[in-house]
Amino acid sequence: MLRKADTSATWAAIISLVLFFIGGILTTVVPPLVDTTWAKPFENADPAKGPTGKLTPLNELQLQGRQIYIREGCWYCHTQQTRTLLADTKRSGWKGVDSPVSTPDEFVYDDPHLFGTKRTGPDLSRVGGKYDEQWHRTHFRNPRDLVPGSIMPPYPWLVEDAAEFKAIVAYMQTLGRAKDWRPDNDYEE
Ligand code: HEC
Repeated sequence: MLRKADTSATWAAIISLVLFFIGGILTTVVPPLVDTTWAKPFENADPAKGPTGKLTPLNELQLQGRQIYIREGCWYCHTQQTRTLLADTKRSGWKGVDSPVSTPDEFVYDDPHLFGTKRTGPDLSRVGGKYDEQWHRTHFRNPRDLVPGSIMPPYPWLVEDAAEFKAIVAYMQTLGRAKDWRPDNDYEE
């Protein structure tokens, strides 16, 4: 049967499709069936590995911030996924500690997910707790005041609307915090 693909375009298309679907099923459908922890909210069950963290659903204020993040298109430029690359874990690392890579159980409440696709700006999946409110205020008002040469657009209207500012910062501070990995957590939300 496989030999027919050499001489017939129809068979070549059919066999490619079958192989494509087998690949798709093996890589996207089977893993979550085998490892059911993927669908459970992250919980750092072993205190020996660090402080106990737990993924909780976002509260109303944080959800409001998430809506602003979607509305303003922050996800056009920012991803929310720390890959298994040194470039990622070092970039989000803090005080010599590499940030943990993202795992599926961190996203069970994310609907729609905001993984993003384009890394024009840095990944934000570990930004929670990195900066305080004042930093975000200055950065939203004019990113270039803090990071010379930044191509992030200014969002002065987010700072001028106190309620919106509070919400977007509350949301920022949740990102990656469930894992509670950051040493010297200075900024509590
Ligand atoms: C046009 C692309 C673009 C858009 C849209 C954008 N950003 Fe950025 N962002 C960047 C770039 C580039 C940087 C790196 C330079 C800097 O820090 O200003 C950055 C940096 C950041 C940082 C600091 C990250 C770190 O680890 O230092 C935060 C937080 C942030 N952006 C949040 C947001 C939020 C929230 C929005 C939506 C309101 C947004 N960005 C929209 C491009 C963008």
